[in-house]
Amino acid sequence: MAGVTHSFEMKTVETTQGLIQLRKDLPSPVGLVPTMGYLHQGHLSLVQQARNECTSVIVTIFVNPTQFGPQEDLRSYPRDIPRDLRLLEECGADLVWTPRVEELYPAEFQTWVDVEKVTQPLEGAMRPGHFRGVTTIVAKLFNAVQPDKAYFGQKDAQQTIVIRRMVMDLNYPIEVVVCPTVRENDGLAMSSRNVYLTPRERASAVVLFKALTAAEEAYNDGVHDADELRAIMSKKIESEPAASLDYVSCADPETLNELSGSVKRSLLSMAVRFGDTRLIDNILIGD
Ligand code: PAJ
Repeated sequence: MAGVTHSFEMKTVETTQGLIQLRKDLPSPVGLVPTMGYLHQGHLSLVQQARNECTSVIVTIFVNPTQFGPQEDLRSYPRDIPRDLRLLEECGADLVWTPRVEELYPAEFQTWVDVEKVTQPLEGAMRPGHFRGVTTIVAKLFNAVQPDKAYFGQKDAQQTIVIRRMVMDLNYPIEVVVCPTVRENDGLAMSSRNVYLTPRERASAVVLFKALTAAEEAYNDGVHDADELRAIMSKKIESEPAASLDYVSCADPETLNELSGSVKRSLLSMAVRFGDTRLIDNILIGD
């Protein structure tokens, strides 16, 4: 095939049994990239890093219903499997698993994986039950795929912390690899949800990155007080009329406890609404 630099056929599979069979023939180390599809360069950077570090790469595409709240965008979540498969083949994925909801959540489903503390603040406080859905599906994907390494994006900082905790607490023999946030040219973090933005909202959405970098610059200029850093971020967001702030945070990057006083290392994060669209972003500051 013209333009394709590898010489193997990417396989796709729907059933868990089929996945387990095909997994047996894949040489180790096996890298797993879990996604909800509608792939962009952020997702593909995880696949590329897995390709660089692993002999076999498995990608899952599954819009996981249990991590969406009742008022959230499950039904309208963007999907385009044929396009996703083309992109994954170009990135050199070996196997794509696209499970069906009915198989992963059979009737009478009632077994959950719940991480207690680090799921409470930030996204957990705004989206009750969200992380229970994430950890339950990721545990199910881990159980079936049994990867050596699993790749997640820093874009969803709390998700990486929650999954690391789950891996330690459940003794999964899996290395969690966190990859940097991929951004558009103006700094907006890539997200499947960016397609919901109107052109005007899209132009305003760069304010998340501007707020984070304003706080980072202030930190580098000697402003180390947590309240001041939070104030710099909220002021910037509030200066954008189309933006409505859910939260800003300056938290400990391991425990996610909100910090006070002078900070050394911290995770600056925020969630901001533009109309019906909710965007999150974060950066790590300090050494
Ligand atoms: P999804 O939002 O599709 O994201 C899949 C992976 O891509 C996540 O690890 C996410 O952090 C990463 N990602 C998204 N945007 C990124 C960006 N701009 N730069 C770098 N990485 C980015 O996150 C989920 O799906 C789900 O919660 C999932 C883990 C698949 C469980 O259902």
